Amino acid sequence: MPLVQLEHVTKTYPTARGPVDALRDVDLTVEPGEFVAVRGHSGSGKSTLLTLVGGLGTPTSGRVIVADRNLAELSSGERAHLRGERIGFVFQMFHLFPYLSVLDNVLVAAATPNDETRRRAEDLVERFGIGHRLTHRPAELSTGERQRVAMARALLNRPALLLADEPTGNLDPDNAAVVMQMLTDFQHDGGCVMLVTHDAESTVAASRLLRLEAGQLVEDTVLA
Ligand SMILES: Nc1ncnc2c1ncn2[C@@H]1O[C@H](COP(=O)(O)OP(=O)(O)OP(=O)(O)O)[C@@H](O)[C@H]1O
Ligand SMILES: [Mg+2]
Repeated sequence: MPLVQLEHVTKTYPTARGPVDALRDVDLTVEPGEFVAVRGHSGSGKSTLLTLVGGLGTPTSGRVIVADRNLAELSSGERAHLRGERIGFVFQMFHLFPYLSVLDNVLVAAATPNDETRRRAEDLVERFGIGHRLTHRPAELSTGERQRVAMARALLNRPALLLADEPTGNLDPDNAAVVMQMLTDFQHDGGCVMLVTHDAESTVAASRLLRLEAGQLVEDTVLA
């Protein structure tokens, strides 16, 4: 069973200056365990694609099916539940809560934090090399450390799918390599990654390359 299916997906944003077509008639099927790198110029629709796959936005037309559920047929509560159980997100800007500790930022992903999720959060933070920062706030961390917190949060619920939107965009090469390794490890453990990247180097880990141009899928190459 495919993990992600897009059928004739179009996304048009209404704006004051008229409608903007962000995605045009995109068809895509992603299987569990794939590592998909999504490339394309600024404004080509990459973030919009991830947003729709993650159920954070709805297509103007077409269908988005994740884990055999047509997202349009779910209530917003059901979509949030599916997201929480199956999908992790990582962004370029980390999106951490400034007033929460590292541990609590990771636990934000837990529906009901209990001893087990707390232990898992601590394990992830430890595994990502920032165990000594558990009680620190994001402002007290380096940018690379902040992205590791975001990765730990994304992985807390053992998602099947990790959506990563330029997660290395604000990182130096060393920290970018750490994040890429985390994504690779996640895939090796059976996870599926959809990674938006401008960076040719970060596509090395990918098993499949997509390219968007002005909202259209113009390249879909399966590697090795
Ligand atoms: N909320 C919005 N309202 C109106 N237009 C939007 C909105 N979000 C995105 N767009 C437009 O949709 C198109 C695709 O945007 P998107 O953010 O998906 O591109 P992107 O490929 O992620 O770009 P970048 O590499 O700069 O992040 C762009 O033309 C953008 O201006
Ligand atoms: Mg984007």
